[in-house]
Amino acid sequence: MSKRTSIAILGSTGSIGRSSLDVITSMNEHGEDYHVNYLVTNKNVDLLYQQVKKYAPAGVVIIDEKRADQFRSYLNGEKLKVYSGESGLMDVMSGGEFDVLISSLVGFAGLRPTLKALEAGKTVALANKETMVVAGEIVNETASRYRATLLPVDSEHSAILQCFSGEGKKSVAKLILTASGGPFLNRSKEELENVTVEEALNHPNWKMGNKITIDSATLMNKGLEVIEAHYLFGLPADKIDIVVHPQSIIHSMVEFVDGSIKAQLGMPDMKIPIQYALTYPERVESKYQRIDFSRIGQLTFMPPDIEKFTLIKSAYEALRQGGTSTAILNAANEAAVDLFLRRRIRFMQISEFVDAALGAIEPKKSPDIDEIFEADRDARKFVYAEAEHV
Ligand SMILES: NC(=O)c1ccc[n+]([C@@H]2O[C@H](COP(=O)([O-])OP(=O)(O)OC[C@H]3O[C@@H](n4cnc5c(N)ncnc54)[C@H](OP(=O)(O)O)[C@@H]3O)[C@@H](O)[C@H]2O)c1
Repeated sequence: MSKRTSIAILGSTGSIGRSSLDVITSMNEHGEDYHVNYLVTNKNVDLLYQQVKKYAPAGVVIIDEKRADQFRSYLNGEKLKVYSGESGLMDVMSGGEFDVLISSLVGFAGLRPTLKALEAGKTVALANKETMVVAGEIVNETASRYRATLLPVDSEHSAILQCFSGEGKKSVAKLILTASGGPFLNRSKEELENVTVEEALNHPNWKMGNKITIDSATLMNKGLEVIEAHYLFGLPADKIDIVVHPQSIIHSMVEFVDGSIKAQLGMPDMKIPIQYALTYPERVESKYQRIDFSRIGQLTFMPPDIEKFTLIKSAYEALRQGGTSTAILNAANEAAVDLFLRRRIRFMQISEFVDAALGAIEPKKSPDIDEIFEADRDARKFVYAEAEHV
């Protein structure tokens, strides 16, 4: 029997959070010993209560104070600590008893708690790519200063980590991130003018939260992943390529200096990379669907259309500029996606707003954490103000 590993999940009610709980159940059924000690959510206290009944954590954090009061009214003698708000979250991140944090809040909100857990020397399984995009250097410095381990959950970065296994860093020539192409791969730029929220949320291969699903439709998700890969694996922008691979079977590849390429393959199911982050560097049994090559038939590849999906260019540009550029890119995108989901702007305006924010706000070099928060606030304010004029 293996040693008990204690887990905290940021965003337990989200797509990655729910999948993580399924992974833990499945691994325990296979003889592993994982215990969920903390669950963190924003508002969805009904689902949180079901999760508490099933996983019996020591504590929960509910960010929204009103929902925390609602949740407390559900309790009936359960031995459970209920924390609320940002301060409750920080208390758990710095002092809570857990070995591994699954960081799967959506968006910039994931940054502070993830940094706190790294400062406490925890292992962080990182799904929240926005954390690396906005503050990659600070996250890396924090992890190394406090001897904390950072492991990717994103399927592309998990694939790269697996391809790196047994290889020296000098042997790596470039990273090749695969992209499904999203729901609008075969639509013309003109057709994209009038796509609806429902069409954009209809991803062909992955079932995910709304924000990342829209990012996958604009291909901003791949731009964010290029930045995430830069900070996780230390390669410059010109050594990180994107290739569209609509079947989402190859999750990414690494090309080596001798011309060999390693790829990691698997069915498109986030439970596989989540499990790998939890068991790294080992592997344990799973029940997840296997690839049947005779059924897949073809694996195809094509370059991304960066004239149609211009946010890819914006992301590379922000990465090359450095400083707070990536925080501005991310915040403007979060605000624009929010406006699109609320039907206040059109799909193609997402990229227009992001580019306008990048053009209007002067980036700062080597920012500290306060300057990153300031850049985030400025970019959101800019986009919401611009939206008043459309
Ligand atoms: N889904 C995927 O397959 C996938 C794959 C790779 C990477 N990722 C990354 O993983 C992260 C999570 O994605 P997701 O698809 O799981 O998102 P999601 O389904 O929208 O879930 C988001 C979670 O974060 C919580 N949350 C939202 N805003 C919050 C705030 N301000 N403070 C605290 N908690 C907040 C939500 O709580 P409530 O439910 O209470 O609102 C929910 O638990 C994202 O960064 C995404 O890019 C996701």
